[in-house]
Amino acid sequence: MKKILVIVGGGRPRGNTAQLVDAFIRGAQEAGHQVEKVSLLQTEVKGCLGCNACRYGKPCVQKDGFQGVADKILAADLIAFASPLYFWTISSRLKALIERFYAIAQKDPNPPLGRYEKYPAKDCALLMTAADNYFWTFEQTVSYYRFALVNYIGFHDKGMVLAGGCGSTNGQPQIGHTSHLEKAYAFGKSLYRDETI
Ligand SMILES: Cc1cc2nc3c(=O)[nH]c(=O)nc-3n(C[C@H](O)[C@H](O)[C@H](O)COP(=O)(O)O)c2cc1C
Repeated sequence: MKKILVIVGGGRPRGNTAQLVDAFIRGAQEAGHQVEKVSLLQTEVKGCLGCNACRYGKPCVQKDGFQGVADKILAADLIAFASPLYFWTISSRLKALIERFYAIAQKDPNPPLGRYEKYPAKDCALLMTAADNYFWTFEQTVSYYRFALVNYIGFHDKGMVLAGGCGSTNGQPQIGHTSHLEKAYAFGKSLYRDETI
């Protein structure tokens, strides 16, 4: 059994992203994992101010929901980042949370090239929805996920569900007419399948 934290960076209450997340959670729970969901619409986490107080042993100067989310991140085995595609990348709420990882970085006396600090090593996954469904639709998002979360922070990628063709927010969520919900369910269910849980 693994502890999975799903961080939802936005989306309509019963929209495409919410449905994708629910399908993923159902699969992960059926596989025996303990899953918790945090919505950044309900828990406000602001972007980093760059004041560097955290680098001098002080707590983050911003009093918002970050510390609660950070505690959950530290306790989890896998963090699933979920978001609708907004202007070709993750939502600003999710980006703001990732900026605050600065405050949970630890000193690394011998960092590898291009990394200055170390972060808790977690598994991670990406769950995205979008209106468009071209080969470039998720290019910026996947690039950022791989660059910042996997290569820089050092999380271990366990996979992605990139759900394009879900319809615009101008109309009803269309994800139910696609195969993405089954894929998200199967993905959640298959996590750690090859390991003893
Ligand atoms: C502010 C905003 C920006 C968006 N930008 C894009 C975009 O760049 N590319 C795209 O394919 N869809 C874009 N969309 C559509 C949403 O990504 C898509 O409808 C998504 O599935 C909505 O998620 P939800 O149903 O969970 O709210 C945008 C929607 C909004 C509201």
